[in-house]
Amino acid sequence: MTHNIVIVGAGFAGVWSALSARRLISSHVNNNPAAADIQVILIAPEPQLVLRPRLYEASPENFVYPLTDLFSATGIHFIQGTVDAVSVEGRNVTVVNPTGATSTQPYDRLIFAAGSCLVRPPIPGLDEHAFNVDQLSAAVKLENHLQGLKSKPSSKARNTVIVCGAGFTGIELATEMTARLQSILGKDADTKVLLVSRGEELGETLGQGPRPVISRALRKLGVETKLGTTITAVDAHGVTIGTGERIEAMTTIWTAGVAATQLSKQISGEKDALGRLRVDQDLRLPSNKEIFVAGDSACAPTGDHGHNSLMSCQHAIPMGRAAGYNAAADLLNVPTVPYYQPIYSTCLDLGPYGAVLTHGWERRVVVSGAVAKKIKAYINGTSIYPPEPTQPSKALAAANPAVNEEAVY
Ligand SMILES: Cc1cc2nc3c(=O)[nH]c(=O)nc-3n(C[C@H](O)[C@H](O)[C@H](O)COP(=O)(O)OP(=O)(O)OC[C@H]3O[C@@H](n4cnc5c(N)ncnc54)[C@H](O)[C@@H]3O)c2cc1C
Ligand SMILES: *[C@@H]1O[C@H](CO)[C@@H](O)[C@H](O)[C@H]1NC(C)=O
Ligand SMILES: *[C@@H]1O[C@H](CO)[C@@H](O)[C@H](O)[C@H]1NC(C)=O
Repeated sequence: MTHNIVIVGAGFAGVWSALSARRLISSHVNNNPAAADIQVILIAPEPQLVLRPRLYEASPENFVYPLTDLFSATGIHFIQGTVDAVSVEGRNVTVVNPTGATSTQPYDRLIFAAGSCLVRPPIPGLDEHAFNVDQLSAAVKLENHLQGLKSKPSSKARNTVIVCGAGFTGIELATEMTARLQSILGKDADTKVLLVSRGEELGETLGQGPRPVISRALRKLGVETKLGTTITAVDAHGVTIGTGERIEAMTTIWTAGVAATQLSKQISGEKDALGRLRVDQDLRLPSNKEIFVAGDSACAPTGDHGHNSLMSCQHAIPMGRAAGYNAAADLLNVPTVPYYQPIYSTCLDLGPYGAVLTHGWERRVVVSGAVAKKIKAYINGTSIYPPEPTQPSKALAAANPAVNEEAVY
């Protein structure tokens, strides 16, 4: 009888789950009759991995990795569609395919890896007028808008970009924006980039460590900041802030607030403040042993030190390796491996100023500037990319959860 491992999502967690499950199954094919009957099925709207961390760069459409060849080389069955219902009792998911037709896909083990998305607060005009870089379509829309500014007469509003939210994404976007704007409007254009945040500190969740480097980078790059500032309305020509002041800008980009996707609401279980499902060390839902969760949809302990996974590739990829392994191990009747990732580091891009690399959960700065930029370029250009389809056995080997502990992101 065939058994299905069904994976929802083709992001970092979903792709690595699928590879890892296939790796374990292949290694048992010669000695375990159950192995040949396990199918790995991945469901996603498109057979591509969107490299979300790179969506704020120019030409975001380049940051998509096609998966069809990798999936066929490694024996992953792909179903194109969007899952719109998860039936835990019926052990099935409902899939809406691109033509709108609906089908049901049964599972024996489910790996939920539908990721996260930006949640916009109900600020008047925000939905209609603010751009974002959360998903590919939104990033392309921003790029087209920025290119379109060229044909508009120069004005303060045209030359100004407001970045809302001074977290990881907001800081990276703001430090990159002057150069991006000048490459479109010309080197001599009187451009202005303004970073606005409700918080009183830059990069509140990034901690004390990197803050002086971030401040210096913003100053050097001429990025202005307005902290402790609430945006109360957005329109096509600017924003209004809490004091009633108006700031002219044809481009407002919202980066604040990410949560697990809506679909995760259909799975009952304890959730954290970001809507992520709490899972055990095997990445399993405590209330349903047939469901594993990985990536931005999951809140998992990273080890014995009380830290939980974050919404990052750094966590999504190793979680995928562990979830895929464990779902397959369960069906093969072999022991599972706990997800374990004690080492934590962050590399924040700071545009032409370089980058800043921190180590540890207390975020101690290790290097900054050009050296850190080299590391960032390796992370965003190499280590977050999926393996090549040309060498399937190497691609599967890369999904071994044993590599998690040494991997650098
Ligand atoms: C602008 C930006 C910058 C970032 N910068 C960094 C960074 O520098 N470093 C870092 O580590 N992380 C960064 N991140 C975070 C990182 O991108 C995420 O943590 C990572 O993408 C999570 O991977 P995931 O697989 O869980 O989810 P995702 O990458 O979001 O993938 C989810 C997948 O599920 C699919 N899906 C969603 N709903 C359904 C459904 N109903 N049915 C079927 N499929 C569905 C999606 O199409 C997608 O394929 C950044 C994110 C953004 C947006
Ligand atoms: C990726 O690295 C390149 C090279 O360092 C850099 O220019 C770019 O801004 C980085 N992008 C992201 C999203 O980190
Ligand atoms: C899916 O699960 C539901 C129970 O929630 C059940 O009624 C239905 O028959 C199942 N469909 C299939 C095709 O298994």
